[in-house]
Amino acid sequence: MAAAAATSDAIAATADDVIPSDRLIDGEYPLYAARGEGAYVWDVDGNRYLDFILAYGTIILGHAHRAVDDAAISEIRQGFALSMLRPAQQQLTRRLTEVIPHAETALLVKTGSDATSSAVRLSRAFTGRDVVVRWGYNGWHDWAAIRSPGVPRTVAEQVTTFGYNDLSSLEEVLHRFSGRVACILMMPFETTLPEPGFLQGVRELADRHGALLVLDEIRSGFRLGLGGAQEAFGVRADLVTVGKAMANGYAVSAVAGRGDILRELANVHISSTFFANSLDMAASLATIDVLATTPALARVEALGTRLQQGLRDVIARTGLPARVVGAPQMPFLQFDDTALAQQRKRLFYTWTVREGLLLHPNHHWYVSAALSDADLDHTLAVADRAAQHAVAAGEEPA
Ligand SMILES: Cc1ncc(COP(=O)(O)O)c(C=O)c1O
Repeated sequence: MAAAAATSDAIAATADDVIPSDRLIDGEYPLYAARGEGAYVWDVDGNRYLDFILAYGTIILGHAHRAVDDAAISEIRQGFALSMLRPAQQQLTRRLTEVIPHAETALLVKTGSDATSSAVRLSRAFTGRDVVVRWGYNGWHDWAAIRSPGVPRTVAEQVTTFGYNDLSSLEEVLHRFSGRVACILMMPFETTLPEPGFLQGVRELADRHGALLVLDEIRSGFRLGLGGAQEAFGVRADLVTVGKAMANGYAVSAVAGRGDILRELANVHISSTFFANSLDMAASLATIDVLATTPALARVEALGTRLQQGLRDVIARTGLPARVVGAPQMPFLQFDDTALAQQRKRLFYTWTVREGLLLHPNHHWYVSAALSDADLDHTLAVADRAAQHAVAAGEEPA
């Protein structure tokens, strides 16, 4: 057990959302990081972990990536908060329009919630409608909050959701709020992949009901490929939101898409003191440069594919009560819902973290391009031992 796996009251509220154990495995997961490099992080007790959480998907090239950090340091040395726009702003906006399909222009903000909330405000202003139909995790602001305390009822009443891979449930919602839906804002997928025709069906329904389609690619953007889910699944969005991997850990995000919608920026209020700071933009330009000029993204996909196949073999060999789900770049183990399977899940993750794998028990994982083939072999060997250990444990739920 990591000695540092204890927190003070002062940061408890934050830590709750950050600690991967999610109270599932008390005291096993490290809490305080000392440093990160490439595919690894070290905790303050000196334990080394192969990182598959990757700061919840912001890291794509590996921790402390030299070219990205050098670009950021160079921006720091020149000053990055200068009461004027910096060239990086224009360069990054242009770069996004080059790599994101159908993007005519882009708005640069900082966090994922900034981007999704901006997309919602633009959609409402453009359509003159109020209702948002959303799916997945889209951020923490009032319209997207996943817990209701603190959210005005009148805001919550303007937002609804629908079933993934279930076009009839979307159609029902669009009929219920007929003529009032500003946008369908959704993650393209989470741990279940889109069935053939699903995303295209969403597009058609959006068009039929005069709603905009916003793909929330905060997780999938710059991870599935430079063109994101639009390219991977052959669907066209009116707006996309990107963030996380686009700057390898630095805080920048964007709304990109149709120029006529983004021109509403002249009318709406979207503003922050920090939006013009160029430090993160310089890091993003360097990140996108590496992604565009090296096989990093192909490698992430290949590594993820091998990880998923290896885990399927582990399950077949050991009888671990779980399924491999998700995209290769964002894989996950879905354990069965029985008490026994959940006990085995706890044992599996206890074993893997003790052997130095930082795998999230309750959130899909991420794969970075910094992972070596030997790291992956090691990961699968640990997973195999963990699965054997979990399955061999007592039959009775704890
Ligand atoms: C798909 C998606 N959209 C939006 C967000 C919100 O981003 P942030 O936490 O940077 O505000 C997240 C964060 O995890 C996300 O995964």
